[in-house]
Amino acid sequence: MLTLFPNYVKKTKQFTVQPDKSEVVSQSSHTGPANVPLITDSSFNEAAETDSHVNNLMQKIVKVWGKHSVVRSRGLDFEEQALIFNPEKNDFLESLLPFAEQEAYYQAPESMKKKILSCGWIIYNEKTLAIETEIVTPACNSIINGRIPGLTSSCFREFASETLVDEAYHSYMVTKANAITRKERNLDVQVPLFTLVKELNAYKNSLSLDWEKDLAQMATAIVSEVFISDYLSLLSTDQNIQPLNTATVEAHMKDELVHGYAFKWLTKTLYKSLSPEQQMFFCKILPKPIRWFASKELDIWGNVLQQIGFKEHKSLIEECRLKSDQDLQKINYSPIIKLASESGIFATQIGIKAFEDEGLISNSSISKMGKMRSKL
Ligand SMILES: [Fe+2]
Ligand SMILES: [Fe+2]
Repeated sequence: MLTLFPNYVKKTKQFTVQPDKSEVVSQSSHTGPANVPLITDSSFNEAAETDSHVNNLMQKIVKVWGKHSVVRSRGLDFEEQALIFNPEKNDFLESLLPFAEQEAYYQAPESMKKKILSCGWIIYNEKTLAIETEIVTPACNSIINGRIPGLTSSCFREFASETLVDEAYHSYMVTKANAITRKERNLDVQVPLFTLVKELNAYKNSLSLDWEKDLAQMATAIVSEVFISDYLSLLSTDQNIQPLNTATVEAHMKDELVHGYAFKWLTKTLYKSLSPEQQMFFCKILPKPIRWFASKELDIWGNVLQQIGFKEHKSLIEECRLKSDQDLQKINYSPIIKLASESGIFATQIGIKAFEDEGLISNSSISKMGKMRSKL
């Protein structure tokens, strides 16, 4: 049986941020994925109380970055991984294909199904790369450059710098993983632009003011950073797929759990620091990336299936499109709803309407959260 990164697992510790005790402690008994730092949900709730609490938490995250980040620990040994590439194993999960239950896919020869799964892994990585480079990196640069209200103190700027380093390493990991997969599977597929990126760019192009563009980028980065751990967790624990792929995703997820919490914390400080006009804008934009994220990316799939010679690619994609272009049910967006509620967005009619318009909440769900409506 293959052992993944034996030294990596032994040399690194797990860390838990415990804000109530104002310290970071190593944890040896946690039962989750190996080496994944934990930050409890209760710490997130506590962070909602004051700006200084958020600042304290951010300072702790910044302080322990050198110990918990993948790039500052051993990282991944891709040469070692390439040696243990197992051609018999599938590269991706069938359940993550948007057409797994369609007849044309079901009837395809096993060799074609295997090739499609390898394409699924390549697309998955390319989407991760797009999130890193087109969504999160520009948002971090805006924080570092002091352009985001409320996030101009040194701890936020330092956090954004560290996150940039993490994301650059994640870009390296997925690029390297895809290069190995393309070589091992002899697959030279090109992946077009993703919906998430196209929609954000189109939305930003419709805006005239720089602060609007910065906030649109920030909102999309916040949603992406909150979602990405779930997105990665789909693959990180599956023992039946290619070990290289599981290892790549697991290492990435380790960093993203921290990013996810930190981006939720900084959202509260950001929102409070905006002018009423900017708050109104932020309320409107925050739910949009949830829909963009839920895209099944059928255009990309149609294009890639054609590249690998899957004859029924047109009818397969059209059948999928008849059901829906998006699959919101596969996305757990409740953390964004909770974040919007705790940030004060649902204390405004505009915030409630923006989430209602995207079909993400109803009046009854707002009542359940016990939030009072008031006008901006
Ligand atoms: Fe990342
Ligand atoms: Fe991240």
